[in-house]
Amino acid sequence: NEVAKESLRSPICCIMGHVDTGKTKLLDCIRGTNVQEGEAGGITQQIGATYFPAENIRERTKELRPDAKLKVPGLLVIDTPGHESFSNLRSRGSNLCDIAILVVDIMHGLEPQTIESLNLLRKRNTEFIVALNKVDRLYGWKTCKNAPIEKALALQSKDVVIEFNMRLTQVITQFKEQGLNTEIYYKNKEMGDTFSIVPTSAISGEGIPDLLLYLVMWSQKTMVEKLTFVDKVQCTVLEVKVIPGHGTTIDVVLVNGVLHEGDQIVACGSQGPIITTVRSLLTRHPMKELRVKGTYQHHREVKAAQCIKITAQGLEHAVAGTSLHVIGPDVDVDEAKKTAMED
Ligand code: GTP
Ligand code: MG
Ligand code: NA
Repeated sequence: NEVAKESLRSPICCIMGHVDTGKTKLLDCIRGTNVQEGEAGGITQQIGATYFPAENIRERTKELRPDAKLKVPGLLVIDTPGHESFSNLRSRGSNLCDIAILVVDIMHGLEPQTIESLNLLRKRNTEFIVALNKVDRLYGWKTCKNAPIEKALALQSKDVVIEFNMRLTQVITQFKEQGLNTEIYYKNKEMGDTFSIVPTSAISGEGIPDLLLYLVMWSQKTMVEKLTFVDKVQCTVLEVKVIPGHGTTIDVVLVNGVLHEGDQIVACGSQGPIITTVRSLLTRHPMKELRVKGTYQHHREVKAAQCIKITAQGLEHAVAGTSLHVIGPDVDVDEAKKTAMED
């Protein structure tokens, strides 16, 4: 039952949770960037996206499982804000992901937007992994940079392990109160019914190998059908943005299919359907955040899954959160206009 690597697209993973639990910092830790410190007030106010190629994931997880076979080309991670006023952005992120990371601060346990995020994921039956973050804040924690979590825990004093287990048990109980079974991932024998918890530190990197490997292995094992590449374009508008030198652009998540320069597209507009032609397809470099200033890579075509900035004329009234359609040889323009406005 081997599936060729080329036939699987990258899983789209949304990272969600209460404000300041460390979502952006976790991505910074994996990317080796410093996006979080550049945010106004340290608060994420936009959806972000980063592409992690399989080679980087391989490198980051080789100590944990040297022989693991990664069958997906990479992982596309969508960062969302945890502040209560951005529930529309959490909803947008959770609507397009294949799998999610629900981040919980080990010192705080479940918080209001943890539960809000949890309910968004449950509504769509989305699989998720709990990252129990900030383990380095346990009193007396010994840093074990980027280590697999079992290795890091084995190095801790008895008191640290006792506090860790107590806080873990509290979080498991809080999930139980929400009607959800959870267990630390390496003891979880009923994956699928019981959700897995991966302890992490976004500051010193403990547990990051476990989180990455689990995400990839779990998606390629249980979502082969969903992740099998198909030609039909499936694409969602994440943000509409004015960029100096480019005019109004749209940031889209290409879930399936291929987009080309010169493609005729139809977007949903606040004043009616927008028909235009793709002028350029831009991406950030792998391991870089789309929403942060930097240089773009230009492409003739882009294959899913990927996050792309599209420049084209007439995008001023495009509506974020709606689908983008491509007019192909056998697609009727009027029909495409109608479907575009159905969102
Ligand atoms: P919003 O996007 O605004 O909801 O927050 P967030 O969940 O992205 O959290 P963010 O990455 O902004 O981190 C919030 C604060 O927690 C920052 O000061 C981080 O440095 C700190 N932080 C995040 N992860 C860790 C961790 O693992 N350990 C410690 N000690 N601090 C952390
Ligand atoms: Mg953030
Ligand atoms: Na924050």
